[in-house]
Amino acid sequence: MELKVIKTQNPKQKPTGALGFGKYFTDHMFVMEYDDGKWHDARIQPYAPFTLDPSCSVFHYGQAVFEGTKAYRNKKGEIRLFRPRDNLERMNNSSDRICIPQIDVDFVLDALKQLVLLDSEWIPTDEGTSLYIRPSIIATESALGVHAAHSYKFFIILSPSGSYYAHGLEPVKLYVEEHYVRACIGGTGHHKVVGNYAASLKAGEKANALGYDQAMWLDSNEHKYVEEVGSMNIFFAFKDKVRTPALLGSILPGITRKSVIELLRDEGVEVEETRVAIKDVVEGAENGNLKEVFGTGTAAVVSPVGDFGYGGKDYVVGGGKMGELSRHIYDELTGIQTGRVPDRFGWVMRIK
Ligand code: COI
Repeated sequence: MELKVIKTQNPKQKPTGALGFGKYFTDHMFVMEYDDGKWHDARIQPYAPFTLDPSCSVFHYGQAVFEGTKAYRNKKGEIRLFRPRDNLERMNNSSDRICIPQIDVDFVLDALKQLVLLDSEWIPTDEGTSLYIRPSIIATESALGVHAAHSYKFFIILSPSGSYYAHGLEPVKLYVEEHYVRACIGGTGHHKVVGNYAASLKAGEKANALGYDQAMWLDSNEHKYVEEVGSMNIFFAFKDKVRTPALLGSILPGITRKSVIELLRDEGVEVEETRVAIKDVVEGAENGNLKEVFGTGTAAVVSPVGDFGYGGKDYVVGGGKMGELSRHIYDELTGIQTGRVPDRFGWVMRIK
């Protein structure tokens, strides 16, 4: 398929001041449509709203998936993507789960690179900033019958962003949710399906109303084992080893999660992917065996957890401060992403 490039005649004003997360969008986007069994009309075009029929199936049954990845521009002028192929492959896995057709990863990766290069002036360079890349697929068939759509739109938009949490690397407070659940085995929790996020909102709002930043999810069956957090996977650094919930079918297989596990193991730190009982986490916080807790995600990067509320009680972890291990992982990972630290794993795709 040919990739057309239509450049904007009206470049937008770039943001000045604090970026926040996902608030500003660049001049261009990538779009292609799927009809009659194939993707077509691939183009990079000026960023603009879509016109969609109100009967489109995405509005009624939520058949949509998305991804999140980032581009970095360093002081040397290099432009670097972090494991973007993994995101596109995960997108195909998510699509498969809800009957969305597969994309050609090589083609889309090439389009993504061209889009980022075209809007490269938008990539921020301050510490902790990046260009957040959001690929999405929505079902666009005009139909109210419940079935897999026959028409789709794929798009990639770009957002110059700062840290996901308003207070940057300040430790977050998590509320362990005992009533609502995020996902169950056999459901869609293992995939980046938009409905997972809608289903998480109620618990997120509840956590916020109670003074916490995000909800920490427990398993849907017994409400005993930690799964993940609002927008992150989660790690518990106990005295003897680091433990993180195993991917048993209801947890998102995070690319940052996978990278952190590889990084820690490469440094000789024992990491166990296992079921993590909330009672062990509470016990560790009480007897001091739990040294640090941190979340990982593309948007959140590595985010320290300072305390968590469970069963009506609050537990402080690591004195409520960012611990040494979390700091080290954050520095290593962002170092590799931006080029400050050599990329010994071959994770970075340099496009300039
Ligand atoms: C990401 O980390 O890219 C995510 O998808 C989290 C997001 C929902 C903000």
